[in-house]
Amino acid sequence: MPMRILSVVGARPQFVKLAPIARAMSGRAEHLIVHTGQHYDALLSDVFFRDLGIPTPDYNLAVGSGSHGHQTAAMLSGLEDVLDSVRPDWVLVYGDTNSTLAAGLAAVKLHLPLAHLEAGLRSFNRRMPEEHNRVLTDHAADLLLAPTEVAMKHLADEGLAERSLLVGDVMTDVLYTVRDELLARPRPLPAGAVPGEFYVCTIHRPDNTDDPQRLASIVASLASLPKPVLLLAHPRLRELAARHGVALDQGAIRVLEPLAYPELVNAVLHSAGVVTDSGGLQKEAFLLRTLCTTIRPETEWTETVDLGWNQLVGQDLGTLAAAVRRPRPADDGAAPYGDGQAAGRVVAALLERG
Ligand code: UD1
Repeated sequence: MPMRILSVVGARPQFVKLAPIARAMSGRAEHLIVHTGQHYDALLSDVFFRDLGIPTPDYNLAVGSGSHGHQTAAMLSGLEDVLDSVRPDWVLVYGDTNSTLAAGLAAVKLHLPLAHLEAGLRSFNRRMPEEHNRVLTDHAADLLLAPTEVAMKHLADEGLAERSLLVGDVMTDVLYTVRDELLARPRPLPAGAVPGEFYVCTIHRPDNTDDPQRLASIVASLASLPKPVLLLAHPRLRELAARHGVALDQGAIRVLEPLAYPELVNAVLHSAGVVTDSGGLQKEAFLLRTLCTTIRPETEWTETVDLGWNQLVGQDLGTLAAAVRRPRPADDGAAPYGDGQAAGRVVAALLERG
């Protein structure tokens, strides 16, 4: 009998990570997918399944939005029913969202083996909901699949070395595939964007959106940048900007919908730089050797900073304009995120240990 592995996803970055895993599972295991419904807008969910060739989820819990407690509780309760009826050999959870934490808890309470993909990342910022989600999930899991040496060290520091395995970063797998497709078959940029003459920008972290003054300062800094800023507005940003009375379409800013994954990679590839508070986008910029400026006091992806491709701008937004204009570092070909073959190692690790 093939091993039965159940992946639980719910939010945009998890769909990207699921894509190479689903492909690597094909023909090797019975792979079932649960979508919690944390993200439900087509632009945050359906387009990723379509563009990245991910099978339609076997279960969709449709939990939708809510406070952390309500959302996580709804997922926990729905997942318990699914996990109990499926009884998989492994529950595989991804990253650091509320969907990750809920699935991790549901699995261990049912004594189902739990594997955490993208284990060991730490921001050491306890204000971030993701930091709690990742620490709690790592300590609950039976198998910790780490993307980097730095993540392995964090796990060892927390006494988790024996359960940890370095597999590389699965987002690198999918990014390289999509980049190569784009190089073979170029796509148009968003209307009006001139290659090399715009910044790609995303802002959605609570620490940047929830305080009206902080959000207004970030928007004012973006508005004064020297090239057009394509602001790919997450619904959370739009909602909070409207609530705080902060107009987003000021100065250099052009407000666009979130882009589908291939369009995003294409835009980053041809941009003058990225300005973001997303985790995944910092790494994608690095892998595409595009300068990134991160509007956060710290990052989990410290290699991007150490290698000179990412610069952090925390409280002092006055430094943003100089940061986006800094020169590119020399490219020494460093590959801290692996070789683009991580998903195969993940599946092999699960099959060996089942
Ligand atoms: C979540 C993750 C975050 C990840 C991000 C990627 C948590 C705690 N946060 O943040 O780690 O970086 O996804 O995008 O799990 N909304 C919609 N449509 C949707 C989904 C959300 O309009 O399809 C709006 C709702 O107003 C909702 C808000 O966005 O309240 C926030 O959504 P939520 O899933 O709670 O968190 P994100 O900010 O998306």
